Amino acid sequence: MKDPLQTAVEMALASGKIQRESLKEGFAIHHKGEINLVTDADIACQEMIISMIRERFPEDDIIAEEKANRFEGNKNRWIVDPIDGTTNYAHGYPFFCTSIAYEVKGSVVAGVVYNPMMDELFFAARGKGAYLNGNRIKVSSVQNLKASLLSTGFPYDITTNPDNNINHFIQFLYEAQAVRRDGSAALNLSYVACGRFDGFWEIYLNPWDLAAGALIVEEAGGAISSLDGGAFSIYGGGVIASNGLIHETMTGIIGKGLPSAEDQTIS
Ligand code: IPD
Ligand code: CA
Ligand code: CA
Repeated sequence: MKDPLQTAVEMALASGKIQRESLKEGFAIHHKGEINLVTDADIACQEMIISMIRERFPEDDIIAEEKANRFEGNKNRWIVDPIDGTTNYAHGYPFFCTSIAYEVKGSVVAGVVYNPMMDELFFAARGKGAYLNGNRIKVSSVQNLKASLLSTGFPYDITTNPDNNINHFIQFLYEAQAVRRDGSAALNLSYVACGRFDGFWEIYLNPWDLAAGALIVEEAGGAISSLDGGAFSIYGGGVIASNGLIHETMTGIIGKGLPSAEDQTIS
């Protein structure tokens, strides 16, 4: 039987190759919504990943962003974002990745995030640490928000959803050293894990944005929670990830204007 982490690494590297080639050759862009895109490269990467999983792990469940998803009980589950950062990809802005996680009995046990433009492979296995290109990584030791570089993202329904994160964004702009919005939640989480960012938050994310990156943060010694500081779930929508030292301060700032728990949950 193949090792899921090894398979996830192989698939992420192969997906990155498709992304690099497709950027050179050109690709079609389709609209899922007014500002929500999907490209032929997303689909090609996803098809390759799904067929490799089906071949090696035929019993497993798969959820992936560009696929109609069914949750099939308590099977082992692959959680796949073929391109996290599709808007960047569509514009040739080189900040995007493939995110692949493996969940067993409700717990993510392996996660891989690969940025093919930087050739950076982040990965973690539960209880075994987090790595960037084979070297162990850990979160930063910054102690306060004024010395912190944070990142965030915004939902695609930003113009129609009043809980669109703009309130939190403004607050953090005042309180932190700086805030970035660079369009890939999985890379943002991985950057918290390796200490480039001190914290990250976002209010509506899907399991495929979160699963691999959240494990990588945890295994790098970081803290991860729901928006109110409670237990984190990849199915819960909102997230705060940090080096642990600034976590409570971040939770406090977000707590000033939280959407209701019901509104945060993705159905
Ligand atoms: C998006 C990115 C972005 C985040 C959005 C996500 P996609 O994923 O992670 O950074 O702000 O909420 O939906 O659509 O590029 O896979
Ligand atoms: Ca995504
Ligand atoms: Ca995606």
